Amino acid sequence: MKVIPLGPGFAAEVRGAGLADVAERDDAYAGVRAAFEEHSVLLFRGQHITEEVQVAYSRRFGPLEIAKVASRGEGTPFSILTNIEPDGSLVPPDHKEALRAKANQLWHTDSCFKDPPALASVLCAPIIPPSGGETEFASQRRAWERLPEAMRARLADAYAWHDYAHSRGKIAPHLASERERNALPPVRWRMRWRNPVNGRDSLYIASHTYAIDGMSKDEGQTLIAQLIEHATALGHTWRHTWQPGDIIMWDNRCVLHRGRPWADDKPRRVVRTTITATDADGLAEMRWEKTAA
Ligand code: OGA
Ligand code: MN
Repeated sequence: MKVIPLGPGFAAEVRGAGLADVAERDDAYAGVRAAFEEHSVLLFRGQHITEEVQVAYSRRFGPLEIAKVASRGEGTPFSILTNIEPDGSLVPPDHKEALRAKANQLWHTDSCFKDPPALASVLCAPIIPPSGGETEFASQRRAWERLPEAMRARLADAYAWHDYAHSRGKIAPHLASERERNALPPVRWRMRWRNPVNGRDSLYIASHTYAIDGMSKDEGQTLIAQLIEHATALGHTWRHTWQPGDIIMWDNRCVLHRGRPWADDKPRRVVRTTITATDADGLAEMRWEKTAA
Protein backbone atom coordinates (compact mmCIF):
# COMPACT_ATOMS: atom_id res chain seq x y z
CA MET A 1 0.00 0.00 0.00
CA LYS A 2 1.23 3.48 -0.92
CA VAL A 3 -0.01 6.78 0.50
CA ILE A 4 0.62 9.85 -1.67
CA PRO A 5 0.05 13.28 -0.06
CA LEU A 6 -2.24 15.57 -2.08
CA GLY A 7 -3.27 18.71 -0.19
CA PRO A 8 -1.66 21.47 1.92
CA GLY A 9 -0.64 19.39 4.95
CA PHE A 10 -3.54 16.93 4.76
CA ALA A 11 -5.33 14.62 2.26
CA ALA A 12 -3.69 11.70 0.49
CA GLU A 13 -4.36 9.13 -2.20
CA VAL A 14 -4.23 5.48 -1.19
CA ARG A 15 -2.85 3.12 -3.82
CA GLY A 16 -2.49 -0.63 -3.64
CA ALA A 17 -5.47 -1.16 -1.32
CA GLY A 18 -9.10 -0.64 -2.19
CA LEU A 19 -12.38 -0.67 -0.32
CA ALA A 20 -12.96 -4.38 -0.94
CA ASP A 21 -9.49 -5.21 0.49
CA VAL A 22 -10.25 -3.27 3.65
CA ALA A 23 -13.63 -4.96 3.94
CA GLU A 24 -11.99 -8.39 3.70
CA ARG A 25 -8.54 -8.13 5.28
CA ASP A 26 -7.38 -6.96 8.71
CA ASP A 27 -3.96 -5.87 7.43
CA ALA A 28 -5.52 -3.68 4.73
CA TYR A 29 -7.85 -2.15 7.32
CA ALA A 30 -4.94 -1.45 9.70
CA GLY A 31 -2.96 0.31 6.96
CA VAL A 32 -5.89 2.43 5.78
CA ARG A 33 -6.95 3.23 9.36
CA ALA A 34 -3.44 4.52 10.09
CA ALA A 35 -3.50 6.64 6.89
CA PHE A 36 -6.93 7.99 7.90
CA GLU A 37 -5.71 9.02 11.36
CA GLU A 38 -2.68 10.71 9.79
CA HIS A 39 -4.03 12.40 6.62
CA SER A 40 -7.70 13.11 7.49
CA VAL A 41 -8.91 12.81 3.86
CA LEU A 42 -8.27 9.71 1.76
CA LEU A 43 -8.88 9.34 -1.98
CA PHE A 44 -9.26 5.92 -3.60
CA ARG A 45 -9.44 5.70 -7.38
CA GLY A 46 -10.86 3.02 -9.68
CA GLN A 47 -13.37 1.78 -7.10
CA HIS A 48 -16.26 0.47 -9.15
CA ILE A 49 -17.85 -1.11 -6.11
CA THR A 50 -21.32 -2.12 -4.99
CA GLU A 51 -23.24 -0.47 -2.16
CA GLU A 52 -22.59 -3.61 -0.11
CA VAL A 53 -18.83 -3.09 -0.38
CA GLN A 54 -19.18 0.58 0.61
CA VAL A 55 -21.11 -0.55 3.70
CA ALA A 56 -18.69 -3.38 4.55
CA TYR A 57 -15.72 -1.00 4.21
CA SER A 58 -17.38 1.69 6.34
CA ARG A 59 -18.47 -0.81 8.99
CA ARG A 60 -14.81 -1.61 9.65
CA PHE A 61 -14.32 1.84 11.17
CA GLY A 62 -17.26 1.74 13.55
CA PRO A 63 -21.04 1.69 13.77
CA LEU A 64 -22.92 3.25 10.86
CA GLU A 65 -25.34 6.10 11.10
CA ILE A 66 -28.78 5.21 9.82
CA ALA A 67 -30.23 8.15 7.92
CA LYS A 68 -33.36 9.11 9.86
CA VAL A 69 -34.57 12.41 8.48
CA ALA A 70 -33.21 15.11 6.23
CA SER A 71 -31.95 12.81 3.53
CA ARG A 72 -33.04 10.59 0.72
CA GLY A 73 -32.12 7.15 1.93
CA GLU A 74 -34.14 7.36 5.17
CA GLY A 75 -33.96 4.17 7.21
CA THR A 76 -30.82 2.96 5.38
CA PRO A 77 -27.10 3.56 5.94
CA PHE A 78 -27.06 5.70 2.77
CA SER A 79 -27.42 9.43 2.74
CA ILE A 80 -28.14 10.42 -0.85
CA LEU A 81 -27.70 13.89 -2.29
CA THR A 82 -29.06 14.31 -5.77
CA ASN A 83 -31.02 16.60 -8.06
CA ILE A 84 -32.45 13.62 -9.96
CA GLU A 85 -36.07 12.63 -9.34
CA PRO A 86 -37.05 8.95 -9.26
CA ASP A 87 -38.50 9.35 -12.80
CA GLY A 88 -35.16 10.64 -14.10
CA SER A 89 -36.13 14.30 -14.46
CA LEU A 90 -34.12 17.03 -12.69
CA VAL A 91 -35.55 19.04 -9.81
CA PRO A 92 -36.28 22.77 -10.38
CA PRO A 93 -33.91 25.28 -8.68
CA ASP A 94 -36.39 26.09 -5.87
CA HIS A 95 -36.96 22.39 -5.01
CA LYS A 96 -36.04 21.18 -1.54
CA GLU A 97 -33.23 18.99 -2.92
CA ALA A 98 -31.77 21.93 -4.84
CA LEU A 99 -31.84 24.04 -1.66
CA ARG A 100 -30.24 21.19 0.27
CA ALA A 101 -27.45 21.11 -2.29
CA LYS A 102 -26.98 24.85 -1.66
CA ALA A 103 -26.81 24.29 2.12
CA ASN A 104 -24.26 21.57 1.43
CA GLN A 105 -22.10 24.19 -0.24
CA LEU A 106 -21.55 25.88 3.14
CA TRP A 107 -18.41 24.70 4.96
CA HIS A 108 -19.48 21.97 7.33
CA THR A 109 -18.62 18.76 9.09
CA ASP A 110 -21.16 15.94 8.89
CA SER A 111 -23.47 15.29 11.84
CA CYS A 112 -21.89 17.61 14.43
CA PHE A 113 -25.56 18.40 15.13
CA LYS A 114 -26.19 14.81 16.22
CA ASP A 115 -25.34 12.83 19.34
CA PRO A 116 -23.30 10.82 18.70
CA PRO A 117 -21.66 12.88 15.94
CA ALA A 118 -19.81 11.38 12.98
CA LEU A 119 -16.29 9.99 12.98
CA ALA A 120 -16.04 9.75 9.21
CA SER A 121 -17.91 9.90 5.93
CA VAL A 122 -17.34 7.74 2.86
CA LEU A 123 -18.55 9.34 -0.35
CA CYS A 124 -19.11 7.76 -3.72
CA ALA A 125 -20.14 9.94 -6.68
CA PRO A 126 -21.83 7.71 -9.27
CA ILE A 127 -23.21 10.62 -11.34
CA ILE A 128 -21.05 13.71 -11.78
CA PRO A 129 -21.60 16.83 -13.92
CA PRO A 130 -19.07 17.62 -16.69
CA SER A 131 -17.89 20.70 -14.77
CA GLY A 132 -18.43 22.07 -11.26
CA GLY A 133 -19.76 19.79 -8.51
CA GLU A 134 -16.34 19.29 -6.98
CA THR A 135 -15.89 18.66 -3.25
CA GLU A 136 -13.57 20.87 -1.25
CA PHE A 137 -11.85 20.23 2.08
CA ALA A 138 -10.03 22.22 4.78
CA SER A 139 -8.10 20.82 7.74
CA GLN A 140 -9.31 21.96 11.15
CA ARG A 141 -6.19 20.38 12.61
CA ARG A 142 -4.03 22.69 10.51
CA ALA A 143 -6.40 25.53 11.38
CA TRP A 144 -5.91 24.82 15.10
CA GLU A 145 -2.14 24.77 14.70
CA ARG A 146 -2.19 28.10 12.85
CA LEU A 147 -4.22 29.84 15.58
CA PRO A 148 -2.38 32.15 17.99
CA GLU A 149 -1.49 30.45 21.27
CA ALA A 150 -3.86 32.70 23.25
CA MET A 151 -6.81 31.76 21.02
CA ARG A 152 -6.01 28.04 21.36
CA ALA A 153 -5.94 28.41 25.14
CA ARG A 154 -9.29 30.20 25.02
CA LEU A 155 -10.96 27.60 22.81
CA ALA A 156 -9.52 24.44 24.39
CA ASP A 157 -12.15 24.39 27.12
CA ALA A 158 -14.91 26.24 25.29
CA TYR A 159 -18.19 24.64 24.22
CA ALA A 160 -20.29 25.41 21.17
CA TRP A 161 -23.83 24.58 20.09
CA HIS A 162 -24.73 22.95 16.79
CA ASP A 163 -28.10 22.83 15.09
CA TYR A 164 -29.07 21.42 11.71
CA ALA A 165 -31.83 24.03 11.39
CA HIS A 166 -29.26 26.84 11.79
CA SER A 167 -27.28 25.99 8.64
CA ARG A 168 -30.46 25.23 6.66
CA GLY A 169 -31.87 28.60 7.78
CA LYS A 170 -29.00 30.38 6.02
CA ILE A 171 -30.39 29.13 2.69
CA ALA A 172 -34.17 29.31 3.27
CA PRO A 173 -36.09 29.97 6.51
CA HIS A 174 -38.15 26.77 6.47
CA LEU A 175 -35.71 24.42 4.80
CA ALA A 176 -35.51 22.31 7.96
CA SER A 177 -39.03 20.94 8.42
CA GLU A 178 -40.87 20.67 11.73
CA ARG A 179 -40.19 16.94 11.72
CA GLU A 180 -36.47 17.46 11.11
CA ARG A 181 -36.23 20.09 13.85
CA ASN A 182 -37.93 17.78 16.32
CA ALA A 183 -35.69 14.86 15.40
CA LEU A 184 -32.53 17.00 15.55
CA PRO A 185 -32.50 19.22 18.66
CA PRO A 186 -29.36 21.36 19.23
CA VAL A 187 -26.31 19.64 20.74
CA ARG A 188 -23.23 20.96 22.50
CA TRP A 189 -19.61 19.87 21.94
CA ARG A 190 -16.21 21.03 23.07
CA MET A 191 -14.58 23.24 20.43
CA ARG A 192 -11.35 21.25 20.39
CA TRP A 193 -11.30 17.59 19.38
CA ARG A 194 -8.18 15.70 20.43
CA ASN A 195 -7.29 12.64 18.39
CA PRO A 196 -6.54 9.83 20.88
CA VAL A 197 -4.21 8.01 18.44
CA ASN A 198 -1.74 10.83 17.79
CA GLY A 199 -2.74 13.50 20.34
CA ARG A 200 -3.30 16.11 17.63
CA ASP A 201 -5.93 18.73 18.30
CA SER A 202 -8.40 20.22 15.88
CA LEU A 203 -10.99 22.93 15.90
CA TYR A 204 -14.55 21.56 15.92
CA ILE A 205 -17.05 23.97 14.39
CA ALA A 206 -19.11 24.19 11.20
CA SER A 207 -21.88 26.10 9.43
CA HIS A 208 -24.21 24.28 11.86
CA THR A 209 -22.58 26.01 14.86
CA TYR A 210 -24.70 28.87 16.21
CA ALA A 211 -23.52 29.73 19.72
CA ILE A 212 -20.60 29.54 22.14
CA ASP A 213 -21.20 29.09 25.86
CA GLY A 214 -20.44 32.23 27.86
CA MET A 215 -20.63 34.57 24.86
CA SER A 216 -23.50 36.69 23.59
CA LYS A 217 -25.22 35.45 20.44
CA ASP A 218 -23.54 38.10 18.26
CA GLU A 219 -20.10 37.67 19.78
CA GLY A 220 -20.31 33.91 19.40
CA GLN A 221 -21.50 34.05 15.81
CA THR A 222 -18.82 36.58 14.88
CA LEU A 223 -16.11 34.37 16.35
CA ILE A 224 -17.50 31.25 14.64
CA ALA A 225 -17.50 33.06 11.27
CA GLN A 226 -13.93 34.29 11.83
CA LEU A 227 -12.74 30.79 12.76
CA ILE A 228 -14.34 29.21 9.68
CA GLU A 229 -12.76 31.91 7.52
CA HIS A 230 -9.40 31.21 9.15
CA ALA A 231 -9.74 27.45 8.66
CA THR A 232 -10.72 27.73 5.00
CA ALA A 233 -8.42 30.59 3.95
CA LEU A 234 -6.87 30.64 0.49
CA GLY A 235 -4.00 28.19 0.19
CA HIS A 236 -5.29 25.96 3.00
CA THR A 237 -7.97 24.01 1.11
CA TRP A 238 -7.90 21.01 -1.18
CA ARG A 239 -10.43 20.61 -3.97
CA HIS A 240 -11.29 17.28 -5.53
CA THR A 241 -12.61 17.01 -9.09
CA TRP A 242 -14.52 13.74 -9.28
CA GLN A 243 -13.72 11.00 -11.76
CA PRO A 244 -15.73 7.80 -12.21
CA GLY A 245 -14.66 5.24 -9.60
CA ASP A 246 -13.43 7.77 -7.04
CA ILE A 247 -14.23 7.30 -3.38
CA ILE A 248 -13.30 9.84 -0.72
CA MET A 249 -13.30 9.25 3.00
CA TRP A 250 -12.85 12.12 5.44
CA ASP A 251 -12.44 12.55 9.18
CA ASN A 252 -15.34 14.65 10.47
CA ARG A 253 -13.47 15.31 13.71
CA CYS A 254 -10.88 17.41 11.91
CA VAL A 255 -11.91 18.50 8.40
CA LEU A 256 -14.48 20.88 7.00
CA HIS A 257 -15.89 20.15 3.57
CA ARG A 258 -18.34 21.63 1.09
CA GLY A 259 -19.81 20.77 -2.27
CA ARG A 260 -19.23 23.19 -5.14
CA PRO A 261 -21.99 24.48 -7.41
CA TRP A 262 -22.77 23.06 -10.83
CA ALA A 263 -25.28 23.82 -13.61
CA ASP A 264 -28.96 23.25 -12.65
CA ASP A 265 -29.56 21.29 -15.85
CA LYS A 266 -26.86 18.69 -15.19
CA PRO A 267 -27.52 15.59 -13.06
CA ARG A 268 -25.45 14.82 -9.98
CA ARG A 269 -25.83 12.03 -7.45
CA VAL A 270 -23.56 11.25 -4.49
CA VAL A 271 -24.04 8.48 -1.96
CA ARG A 272 -22.57 8.71 1.52
CA THR A 273 -22.13 6.27 4.35
CA THR A 274 -21.41 7.83 7.73
CA ILE A 275 -19.55 6.23 10.61
CA THR A 276 -20.56 7.23 14.12
CA ALA A 277 -17.88 8.42 16.56
CA THR A 278 -17.33 6.42 19.75
CA ASP A 279 -15.34 7.08 22.92
CA ALA A 280 -12.39 5.28 21.30
CA ASP A 281 -12.34 8.16 18.78
CA GLY A 282 -12.04 10.78 21.52
CA LEU A 283 -15.77 11.48 21.86
CA ALA A 284 -16.03 11.22 25.67
CA GLU A 285 -13.77 14.28 26.12
CA MET A 286 -16.04 16.27 23.79
CA ARG A 287 -19.00 16.06 26.17
CA TRP A 288 -19.79 18.99 28.38
CA GLU A 289 -21.35 16.71 31.02
CA LYS A 290 -18.14 14.70 31.29
CA THR A 291 -15.62 17.49 31.23
CA ALA A 292 -17.13 20.61 32.81
CA ALA A 293 -17.21 19.97 36.52
C1 OGA B 1 -21.84 15.03 2.01
C2 OGA B 1 -21.31 16.21 1.32
C3 OGA B 1 -20.26 17.03 -0.67
C4 OGA B 1 -20.58 17.00 -2.10
O1 OGA B 1 -22.26 14.09 1.32
O2 OGA B 1 -21.82 15.02 3.24
O3 OGA B 1 -21.11 17.21 1.95
O4 OGA B 1 -19.74 17.47 -2.88
N1 OGA B 1 -21.03 16.08 0.03
O5 OGA B 1 -21.67 16.53 -2.46
MN1 MN C 1 -21.36 16.81 4.13
